[in-house]
Amino acid sequence: MSDDYLLKVEDLTISLDVDNASFSIVEGVNLTIKAGRVFALVGESGSGKTIVSLSILRLLGKGVSITGGKILFKDDQAQTIDIVKLNSKGKPIQAIRAAQIGMIFQEPMSSFSPVHTIGNQIEEVIHLHLDLDKKQARQKCIEMLGKVGIVNPERAIDQYPFEFSGGMRQRAMIARAMICNPKLLIADEPTTALDVTIQAQILKLMKDLQNELNMANLFISHNIGVIAQIADDVAIMYMGKIVEQGPVRDILRNPRHPYTKGLLRAIPHLADIGRSRRLEPIAGSVPNLYERPNGCPFAARCSEFIENICDRDFPKSTEIATDHTVFCHHVERDQNQQNLVVNI
Ligand SMILES: Nc1ncnc2c1ncn2[C@@H]1O[C@H](COP(=O)(O)OP(=O)(O)O)[C@@H](O)[C@H]1O
Ligand SMILES: [Mg+2]
Repeated sequence: MSDDYLLKVEDLTISLDVDNASFSIVEGVNLTIKAGRVFALVGESGSGKTIVSLSILRLLGKGVSITGGKILFKDDQAQTIDIVKLNSKGKPIQAIRAAQIGMIFQEPMSSFSPVHTIGNQIEEVIHLHLDLDKKQARQKCIEMLGKVGIVNPERAIDQYPFEFSGGMRQRAMIARAMICNPKLLIADEPTTALDVTIQAQILKLMKDLQNELNMANLFISHNIGVIAQIADDVAIMYMGKIVEQGPVRDILRNPRHPYTKGLLRAIPHLADIGRSRRLEPIAGSVPNLYERPNGCPFAARCSEFIENICDRDFPKSTEIATDHTVFCHHVERDQNQQNLVVNI
């Protein structure tokens, strides 16, 4: 993998303290986000996506902590900072939050305070990070609200969150996350709480803004169906571990992990609407994260499960094409056999 990254997560482990025990809820995660590209992190609910995104901004809650690995970020002075080493309450991380890495949180309702106007809440971010006076800040805020597609931004700026529809509130969230022109935007399930037509509009808006501003995006979703529209690179997460990652085309055309294949079989295709193709949900449900088995975490639900192999060790990373890696014993074995044939 080339070194032209903006954010590189290396061997990240995040643990949860319960009573006197500690459980790793995210383990050995590696991600490389390149400048100006959209990196999608996909997995069912409970797989650890939000925890990973919060760790990048050092916003993990009480009892949850980073217990291993690095989060390397190239800041606006082209210095490489290991975010893991920063004090979570110190000035350096505060200078990165919002100004260099913007974030859209998963719960749109709780993201804005109900008692302050939208404008006040966006201007607050401006005053923290940019050297603008009141009038300039208000002007910048109106411009940004217009840019994210809010009609009549001069009026909207003085409205309260409850006066906005869900879609408008999400647009305002995007405006707030992008007001300082960050190099990276983290969007945690930005469209999940919205209905389908609004989802498509918000996705298009994010894609347009990302192209226009050449900003990188860590896009988090439980829905693999949306990644074709937005992502350049994709990582599939299951029970706190990455099981497959690669360029979006490879993941969609040549998925190799049984979990990725299952996720793709479970999404409706536009071409199939009205026909009788049955969707195939993945059998079983995600086990409790604290009960992650020794072997492949997907083993218990996998239709290709091999006893004494899949339930023993976590599979090694197999690179099946440039930047396309899979963690699966089947893939590992196929690759080894291929290499044997080549070497004979
Ligand atoms: N503060 C916490 N206390 C207890 N468990 C937590 C806490 N935060 C996260 N978890 C555990 O970590 C799991 C992964 O959480 P999360 O990152 O929110 O998953 P996702 O965003 O993929 O749905 C949760 O299902 C939960 O079991
Ligand atoms: Mg989440």
